[in-house]
This record gives sequence, structure tokens and C-alpha cells, in this order.
Amino acid sequence: SKQIQIAIDGPAGAGKSTIAKIVAENLGFTYIDTGAMYRAVTYKAINENIELNNAEALESMLLKTVIDLKPSKSGQLVFLDGKDVTNLIRSNEVTANVSQVSAHPNIREILVKKQQELASNGGIVMDGRDIATHVLTEAELKIFMSASVEERAKRRFIDNEKRGIPSNMDTLIQEISLRDKLDSEREASPLVQAEDAIYLDTTELSIEQAADAILKLANEKM
Ligand code: C5P
Repeated sequence: SKQIQIAIDGPAGAGKSTIAKIVAENLGFTYIDTGAMYRAVTYKAINENIELNNAEALESMLLKTVIDLKPSKSGQLVFLDGKDVTNLIRSNEVTANVSQVSAHPNIREILVKKQQELASNGGIVMDGRDIATHVLTEAELKIFMSASVEERAKRRFIDNEKRGIPSNMDTLIQEISLRDKLDSEREASPLVQAEDAIYLDTTELSIEQAADAILKLANEKM
């Protein structure tokens, strides 16, 4: 069997990371969650009181920053300048501000390069917003995963509960809709389905069903 690249894009809360993790584990591939990189940059910028609309200040901060993604049993650990920030980057504050940071082309350029390096040695499952369109344009399998806003909010609610983060359904629906809008309407590499991507609606699918659908498609390419 072949070492292929699998790109999974889609809006917030569609189940990308949960499903991508399972797919990677089944194939013995490396899983990379690119959203974690944008979140780590946002987390550090907030802590250092950097204006999130100041692209130059963000870039000089990023050039002095080390972001390490380490595959782990539970998926992926995120280290920022040597510190484990895996859970810290999931805070409401980071979530509410990450789209502003990820809209800067100079920040994207630096992170995309890093993502391409991480993917260069073999079997990879990478999830994000622009993986099929910009990061891994030659990926053998491209999936665009979505689900209704209500379903995505419900999943985020349950997810937050497990992490001990308090949340409210109406707020989640608003926040997810706003993030979809910002990510889809930005100038630099907006969230859009690649022409050669397969659309997967997970609204009515269990995690296992969605993972199986992708594994079946992957096996056809291997
Ligand atoms: O996937 P996750 O929700 O953690 O991503 C957080 C944010 O990072 C997204 O809302 C988006 O603004 C940004 N992002 C991006 N490109 C990617 C992955 C994430 O712009 N490839």
C-alpha cells in the first residue's frame, strides 16, 4: 500500500479533527491539525498584548516563536516555545480571536510552509480550511466535510462539556456562524471546497460512519 496525503477541510465543528484522527490511526499515518498552529499564534499574541490587526507585529512575534506539533495517543500535542498549550489554545478567548489572526497573508505564508514541511515525509492526514486548495494541492484524497450549523454547535457544546468549558447553545451557534463567515469571506485562502474535493455531509453520520467513508475512499487510492 501507498503513503498518500489526505486533505480534510471544512467549517468549524464539522468533526474534522475527531474523524481525521481515527482515519490516521487506522492507516498508520501522521495526523496534523493545522488549526492548532493558528490557535497557538493567537494565544501567544493575546498573552503578549499584541494588536491582532497588526500584521507586522504578529509576524515579528511569529518569527521568534517555536510551534511544535507532536503526534500522541490522543491525537496531537501542541508545544509553544517548549510549553504544552494543547488545552490552553481551545479557550473561548482564542476561539473568538483566531479568525482575525489567520486572515493575515504573511502569517499564513509562514504557517503553510511549515505545514508543507511536516507533510513532506509520507502518509499524512491534515485538517484545516485551505489544505486542499493551498497547502497540499497534490493530495491524493481531498475531503470537504460539513454539517448543519445546529449540529455543529451541539457537538461543540458536548465537546466543551467534556473539557470543562462552560458554553451556551445560542452563543455557540452565533460564534460558529461568525467564524464560518470570517473564514469564508477573507481575502487570503478563504475556506472553500476545492474543485477536486469530495463533499461529505456529516450531519446524519456517526463518527464511525464518517471515518469509514473516508477510509473506503483512501483505500481506493492506495
Ligand atoms: O480547526 P480550528 O477550528 O481549530 O481552526 C481555528 C481557526 O484557524 C479557523 O477558524 C481559521 O480561522 C483558522 N484556520 C485557517 N486555516 C487552516 C486551519 C485553521 O485559517 N488551515
